[in-house]
Amino acid sequence: MVMDHTGVTRHMFDANDAEALAKPEERFTDSKGHLLAHSTPTCLIFGAPSDGGMAYQIQRYPTELIDVLRLTAGERVVIRPVLPQDRELLNAFFHGLSADARCSRFMHPVSELSSELLRQFTQVDYANHVALVAEVFVDGCEVVIGEARYARAADVSSAEFAVSVADSWQGNGLAKLLLGRLERFASEAGVRQITAETFASNKKMLGVAAKAGFKISASLGAPGVMRLVKRLAPLQQRPK
Ligand SMILES: CC(C)(COP(=O)(O)OP(=O)(O)OC[C@H]1O[C@@H](n2cnc3c(N)ncnc32)[C@H](O)[C@@H]1OP(=O)(O)O)[C@@H](O)C(=O)NCCC(=O)NCCS
Repeated sequence: MVMDHTGVTRHMFDANDAEALAKPEERFTDSKGHLLAHSTPTCLIFGAPSDGGMAYQIQRYPTELIDVLRLTAGERVVIRPVLPQDRELLNAFFHGLSADARCSRFMHPVSELSSELLRQFTQVDYANHVALVAEVFVDGCEVVIGEARYARAADVSSAEFAVSVADSWQGNGLAKLLLGRLERFASEAGVRQITAETFASNKKMLGVAAKAGFKISASLGAPGVMRLVKRLAPLQQRPK
């Protein structure tokens, strides 16, 4: 974990993330010395309750989900778990989606994401909620081009997922890559069934789901909606 020029803790993908969690305690401050986050041997804690803010804790940041890969067309893409400081990046991503894509993603027309939804989307516990972004760097700046997440249902062996990819990046296998990683992580975490709902008119998502081995059927009680279900085989947890 390092600081960038704005003084905000940034996620640079090296061994520092894992090391930060192993140290007895480390403090991350902004350029004025305000506490942004601190680590304990088991937690990375964002926010300072003394500032009136709510502390947000990640028990274990899943560094194994960080990956750098090339899409079919050869572009270099970073895939990584979402962090609280991704608010603006994610907001820009959703704002940049076409109205149709946004409507397909949220299953109703959405023009702006509420502050509360952005909070939920970025303050991810990596136990019940797991979220990934795919990003590229344009002129040295991060740009999110895809996101995927799952949230466990009340029955924790089942989880609901959603995925979206920036319009200009669709058709490059990104949704497939993001979903594949989520599925693997979910299997290792004991999720046995992953589900989603999508419009019957959403041929792209139905294509992604069919290719990934989901069972597709009409959703009971919701006309024009299809239900996607995939059983996940138990997978052994990778060593952390
Ligand atoms: C649905 C969506 C996520 C797909 O993203 P994507 O990155 O373009 O999908 P991929 O390139 O990974 O496609 C994976 C597979 O799906 C299939 N597929 C993709 N688009 C398809 C289409 N229009 N018709 C049929 N199959 C299609 C392909 O077979 C592809 O496999 P292949 O690359 O081996 O040929 C993207 O279109 C999107 O963001 N849509 C708006 C948001 C949304 O609808 N989200 C779904 C909510 S659950």
